[in-house]
Amino acid sequence: MAEAIAELTKAPMFDLTSSDPSVVANYDFLFIGTPVEGFRPAKETMKFVERLPNAEGKKTVLFCTYMLFKGVTFSTLEKALTNKGYKCILKVSKKGLRPNKPADFSQCIDEIKKALMK
Ligand SMILES: Cc1cc2nc3c(=O)[nH]c(=O)nc-3n(C[C@H](O)[C@H](O)[C@H](O)COP(=O)(O)O)c2cc1C
Repeated sequence: MAEAIAELTKAPMFDLTSSDPSVVANYDFLFIGTPVEGFRPAKETMKFVERLPNAEGKKTVLFCTYMLFKGVTFSTLEKALTNKGYKCILKVSKKGLRPNKPADFSQCIDEIKKALMK
């Protein structure tokens, strides 16, 4: 999904497992994504988010992929980000990816397009 978003926005992609969170200082808008693990964001995602610098109203779009249940994935991420001053404008998710089939993220991308036009 990150690749589909990067293609739409022409924005650079950063692997949050190996990037320094201070990189966000260079951008006004963040897309933050995670696989759902144990009904929550992946540990690596939370580690990155917890180390983010504070921001005043920097906009974020959250996205996740999952098999069956998202649980508290978005609420956990949004809470941590809101506490740091980020503003979440959209949450998009894709359920039930099949390894043998190319994933279709077109619905998510349409939702993002609409949010960006506002
Ligand atoms: C350790 C682990 C825990 C998972 N927990 C959940 C879960 O709680 N709910 C769910 O719907 N999917 C769960 N999944 C499935 C993943 O969310 C899904 O495979 C993933 O989002 C696919 O994204 P990726 O292709 O970016 O890895 C889990 C997968 C792993 C490996």
